[in-house]
Amino acid sequence: MNPFVSPKHIYYGEGSLCKLPEIIQDLQVKKVVLITDPILKELGVIDPVLEILHNENVELDIITSVVPEPPIDTADQVVEEARESQPELVIGVGGGSAIDIAKATAVLVENEGKVEEYLNLNGTKKLENKGVPKLFIPTTAGTGAEVTDIAVFSLEDTKDVITHEYLLADYAIVDPVLTYSLPEKVTAASGIDALTHAIEAYTSTQAGPLTDSLALDAIGKISANIRTAVWNGKDKHAREQMALGSLIAGLSFYNAGVAGVHALAYPLGGLFKIPHGESNAVLLPYVYDHIWPACLHKMSKVAEAMGLPAEGKDNRTLAREVVWELFHLVEDVGLSTQLSAYEIKEKDIESLTRNGIKQTRLLNRSPKKLDEQSIHQIYTNAYHRRLDGSNHV
Ligand SMILES: [Fe+2]
Repeated sequence: MNPFVSPKHIYYGEGSLCKLPEIIQDLQVKKVVLITDPILKELGVIDPVLEILHNENVELDIITSVVPEPPIDTADQVVEEARESQPELVIGVGGGSAIDIAKATAVLVENEGKVEEYLNLNGTKKLENKGVPKLFIPTTAGTGAEVTDIAVFSLEDTKDVITHEYLLADYAIVDPVLTYSLPEKVTAASGIDALTHAIEAYTSTQAGPLTDSLALDAIGKISANIRTAVWNGKDKHAREQMALGSLIAGLSFYNAGVAGVHALAYPLGGLFKIPHGESNAVLLPYVYDHIWPACLHKMSKVAEAMGLPAEGKDNRTLAREVVWELFHLVEDVGLSTQLSAYEIKEKDIESLTRNGIKQTRLLNRSPKKLDEQSIHQIYTNAYHRRLDGSNHV
């Protein structure tokens, strides 16, 4: 039995950024490295954070070389820059990319070597030192990166992760106000990513009662609010519910894990540079179209959480309706449910399958075994935009 783990300090709520001065004072730090996305700096999204740090008189180095789906070289470059700064605290502000790089940086400033050497599949080194304190402030809802100890990096043809308890935040501040100005597409993609975390955690082979209750709550909050958050971003209630849903989905999947959707999404990011949220979105209906018979009861609970009418319906009917609801939800928020929309050719399915099958850490958590043939079938269905539930009848 594994314990339920989370960052020690999580602040959630509108205006929770006001906790930052208290944290700086408690830690008694004077030298801070802040890692963020250049666009967020340009748009002024991080200005409230900068203002607080300025008022606290800390010596601040801002690193803005974060790029989406960060390649390993980018992470190394940031780590090198941060080592020169010798920070006492690393703050990551942004989406998953900024926070993941911040995680690795905060730890590697006190460990030797390159990021690549610590990767789960391709690395050989073990982290010896915990690194400096880390504080993460997400500006999307979201990757859940602020509450997990996983940092994802892009390699030539796939993705790999550093995963270690040392990467876990000392502090996470989730202030929905920072998400109010997110554009539609980012809201949609990060929101579907959060929904995928919740559903995959709920049906994971490593799920337990604690992760289940968080996951179901997250599924309810996200599915009820994602359309409004995307198409009416000024709706504060929808933004708050999305931020909270993303946070609790993060806590759930950090402990129960994600599975097949993320496993098959990684090669889409690696080989075709499709953003993480969109990679999940284009596969989510098709993976559940394949695995629902192995998690029938849980799928009926997902139907309930999503608010689908259940009266007089058996679990099989409800599970099929969840698959269709996921399909419609992805399209309703303006994302594609077809691989060919990303200029992927049918012949590419072979290399996607070869890469997908390597993600054993994730695939092992699927309630239904995903072998090479089933992975190939899922990519093929996603290519043809074909829900294939009749295979199971
Ligand atoms: Fe994700």
